[in-house]
Order: sequence, then C-alpha cells, then structure tokens
Amino acid sequence: LRNFNNSIFVFLVSFQSHLEKAKDSVKFAIDAGYRLFDCAYMYQNESEVGDAIQEKIKEGAVTREDLFIISKLWCTFHEKSLVKEACQNTLTALKLDYLDLYLIHWPMGFKLICSIFLTPFTLFFVNTFLSGSLCAMEDLVEIGLVKAIGIANFNKNQIEQLLSKPDLKYKPANNQIESHPYLPQEELIKYCQSKGISVTAYCPLGSPQWPKPEDFSLLDDPQIKEIAAKHKKTSAQVVIRFQVQRNVSVIPKSVTPHHIEENLKVFDFELTEKEMKTILSFKKRHRISSITL
Ligand SMILES: NC(=O)c1ccc[n+]([C@@H]2O[C@H](COP(=O)([O-])OP(=O)(O)OC[C@H]3O[C@@H](n4cnc5c(N)ncnc54)[C@H](OP(=O)(O)O)[C@@H]3O)[C@@H](O)[C@H]2O)c1
Ligand SMILES: *[C@@H]1O[C@H](CO)[C@@H](O)[C@H](O)[C@H]1NC(C)=O
Ligand SMILES: *[C@@H]1O[C@H](CO)[C@@H](O)[C@H](O)[C@H]1NC(C)=O
Repeated sequence: LRNFNNSIFVFLVSFQSHLEKAKDSVKFAIDAGYRLFDCAYMYQNESEVGDAIQEKIKEGAVTREDLFIISKLWCTFHEKSLVKEACQNTLTALKLDYLDLYLIHWPMGFKLICSIFLTPFTLFFVNTFLSGSLCAMEDLVEIGLVKAIGIANFNKNQIEQLLSKPDLKYKPANNQIESHPYLPQEELIKYCQSKGISVTAYCPLGSPQWPKPEDFSLLDDPQIKEIAAKHKKTSAQVVIRFQVQRNVSVIPKSVTPHHIEENLKVFDFELTEKEMKTILSFKKRHRISSITL
C-alpha cells in the first residue's frame, strides 16, 4: 500500500511540474518571439497556458491581437448542443474572449461515458462533424467567439464530404495534420492548398519523445544530418524549414529553453530545390499519432 501511495504521489508531483513547465515555457516562448500557440481542451493544460498569456499581456510584452491562439473541440463534444459550452470552457481556461482558430480535433465523435479519454467502452459516432459540430462551430464565428474554424486529422475523403455539404457557411480555414519527412503528406497538402485550406504540420520533429521502431529517429537521419551540417543548422531546424518552404505552417513543441530558441531560427537560411527533393524522396514511413492525442 505504501508503494502504491508513493506512486500516486510521484504521479501528482510530476503532473504538477508538467503544468508549471507549461506556464513557464509559454512565457519563455513569447519572450523569444513566438506568437502562435496551439492548444486543445484535450491537453488539460489550457488554464496554465492562459495564465502565461495573461501575465505577458499585463506585462505589456504583447497584446492579444499580436497572438494567434488555436484550440480544438474534443471528440466528446461533437453534438450540436455541446459545442458552444465546450468552446466557452476553453475560453475560460485560456482567459480569452475569442480564439483565432477553433479546430475539430478529430473527424469522429464519441460518447462521453466516464472519461474524455478513449477507453475500451468508448462508443464511436462516425462523421458527426457533418451533422453536428460543423454547423455549431459556424455559429461560434457568428457570435464572435472564434475568428475562424478548421479541422484536424481529416483525410481527403472527409474534406470532400465537408465541402459538398449544401448548407456550408464557412469553408474550413486550416487542416492540422501529422507531417514530417517520414510522413510528408504531399498529396493531402496539395489537395488542401488547391481548395484554399491552409495546412499545419504537427509532430514536425517526428515526436522524438515517443517510442518508435529502432531506425526511425528522424533527427538522427543521416541525410537530414548531412543537409543540416551544410547549412550549419540542426536537424530540427532543417525539418521545420522544410515545412515553411512548402507553405505549411508548423508547430514544434518544446518546454526546453534552448530548443524553443533554436526552433525559431529558421528564417536565415534556405534549403535548395535539390535538398527539398531529397527530403521528399525518403522511403521510410511512420505515423506517430493515433486517436489518443
Ligand atoms: N491535432 C492533433 O491531433 C495533434 C496531435 C499531436 C500533436 N499535436 C500538436 O503538435 C505539437 C507538436 O507535436 P509533438 O509534441 O507530438 O511532436 P514534435 O513537436 O515533433 O516533438 C516534440 C519533442 O521534440 C523535442 N524537441 C523540441 N525541439 C527540439 C530540438 N530543437 N532538438 C531536439 N529535440 C527537440 C521536445 O522536447 P523538449 O520539450 O525537451 O524540447 C519534445 O520531446 C503538439 O504540442 C500539439 O500542439 C496535434
Ligand atoms: C500541454 O499538453 C500537451 C499534451 O500533453 C503537450 O503536448 C503540450 O506541450 C502542453 N503544453 C505546454 C505549453 O506545455
Ligand atoms: C507559397 O505561397 C507563396 C505566396 O502565396 C507563393 O508565391 C509560392 O509559390 C508558394 N510556394 C509553394 C511551394 O507552394
């Protein structure tokens, strides 16, 4: 029993320190020059991110208008009647009166049974975005709670269904998808851009903290390292720059100050066309994100 209690204690302590880190890293990032923050109800740390933003606004470091704040509607709130409250809860946690962009986190909804997390008892409702969440999100634009709406983790087929919805009022402004050199998503990105939907790449560094097949460390890839060495940059900077050059917005995550600074220094070099082609020709494929995020 004592061991059990200790492990709960350790869990609480590490979770708490995770939250404190969230607040400190957002403050550090604002000072370093970051202006876009990608949040989600599901991440359970919007309150800490909100505290950091408030402190920086009060300090006069930035204004609300300088910032671009994204959040996402979690899968358990797809029903039309639940969307507005879900958005308001996010705004309260973030201490903001509007979001710049509100995304449908995943294309499928599920029933809230005892947890917002995916459990073996979770019931799925496929394509709830067509009947519920999307219309209700359009209303959020109209009442001023969000400036724009978008989607995340949508494939071409789902986007086509969405765009052919007869009563569609607002086209999604953005699709946020996993993308990095081992999952370049060329076809989907070209499709979105051809429809006027901007794309954001998540897990752009290949999420090095997650367990993966042995030779799948993107930042240790010999070809990436070679390109990085040529430009006197790091692998992380090369894979971020790769997205910038194909007009894809990119959201590398970091709580480590020197990484936060490093990841922003990608505007003082350019990958050659040949280097872009090399990166796009990798044969390795790996998808990191599943529905648990
Ligand atoms: N829409 C969705 O469904 C969805 C799903 C997954 C993720 N996302 C979004 O995408 C963001 C990024 O995804 P992610 O965190 O999974 O993957 P990521 O950004 O590819 O990788 C983050 C990891 O890389 C490390 N790192 C950061 N900068 C580095 C550098 N310069 N050199 C070496 N390592 C570095 C970080 O450690 P340190 O913190 O120690 O720097 C962290 O462990 C998330 O925070 C979230 O906002 C969205
Ligand atoms: C908030 O939590 C998510 C999910 O655990 C994590 O990816 C993100 O980095 C956290 N945000 C901050 C600012 O630490
Ligand atoms: C990126 O967008 C700019 C401005 O719209 C455009 O001039 C350029 O051709 C685009 N580049 C790519 C690779 O799509």
